[in-house]
Amino acid sequence: MKAVAVFSIKGGVGKSATAVNLAHAAATTGGRRTLLWDLDSQGAATWLLQREPASGRKARAALAGDEALSGLVVHTEFPNLHILPADRSLRRLEGDLARSDKEKQLRKQLKAFTESYDRILIDCPPGLSELAVRIFRAVDLIVLPVIPSPLSERAAAQLQEELAMGGFDRPRLLPVWSMVDARRKLHRQTVAAHPDWPQIPYSSTVEQMAVHRAPIAAFQPSGAPARAFAALWAQVEAALLR
Ligand SMILES: Nc1ncnc2c1ncn2[C@@H]1O[C@H](COP(=O)(O)OP(=O)(O)OP(=O)(O)O)[C@@H](O)[C@H]1O
Ligand SMILES: [Mg+2]
Repeated sequence: MKAVAVFSIKGGVGKSATAVNLAHAAATTGGRRTLLWDLDSQGAATWLLQREPASGRKARAALAGDEALSGLVVHTEFPNLHILPADRSLRRLEGDLARSDKEKQLRKQLKAFTESYDRILIDCPPGLSELAVRIFRAVDLIVLPVIPSPLSERAAAQLQEELAMGGFDRPRLLPVWSMVDARRKLHRQTVAAHPDWPQIPYSSTVEQMAVHRAPIAAFQPSGAPARAFAALWAQVEAALLR
């Protein structure tokens, strides 16, 4: 099992859209038994896949170790793709983590899924929080969506530094240009600084995920955004297997 976090210190950069499309690609084209773990109390990924948390089950309690996390997993309409939904209880998770000294607990909880899943994609809330640090300790790869601007490029450099200073032996970092608008000069110039980073175009198709409540490949499989996410998945797989 390999675990991938879609993370950024910044909000609104396309993390949830990326997590949902990557998880769908892993499960369908990749044929991997895939779990999408929604760790953001906003529950965007959960909502985009038309899922609700099983009633009465609380992600926060399960994360604290009171209940097996596997009891929270629900199926999606897509083969091989399950989701561990978010709920509002996660809003209070940071306080729990600040009080807890079980730094490796999240890592253990991920490992408990080793037999059941080949790939776990985590949709992270924004911010360099206590949860983020634990996620860094637990995953194999961080996918970092970056909107092309001098400022957000700095966020990527900061995260790289943070990982180096934290002494994490893993994970690797895969920055991805997100919401790239080729008509904008600043975007073209910024992207040119790292032409090797994968690119997701700015597209209303991505926004329409919220209308269809589905991954792009399920409603617009032949367009440029679907191809971009498929290519990104191939690069994620390559990074995981390297
Ligand atoms: N490539 C794209 N092109 C156009 N719109 C996009 C693209 N990616 C994301 N969006 C839109 O931008 C908004 C933010 O995207 P998303 O929710 O995926 O970001 P996020 O980083 O998860 O945000 P948050 O930090 O709040 O969790 C959404 O309305 C989404 O539809
Ligand atoms: Mg999000």
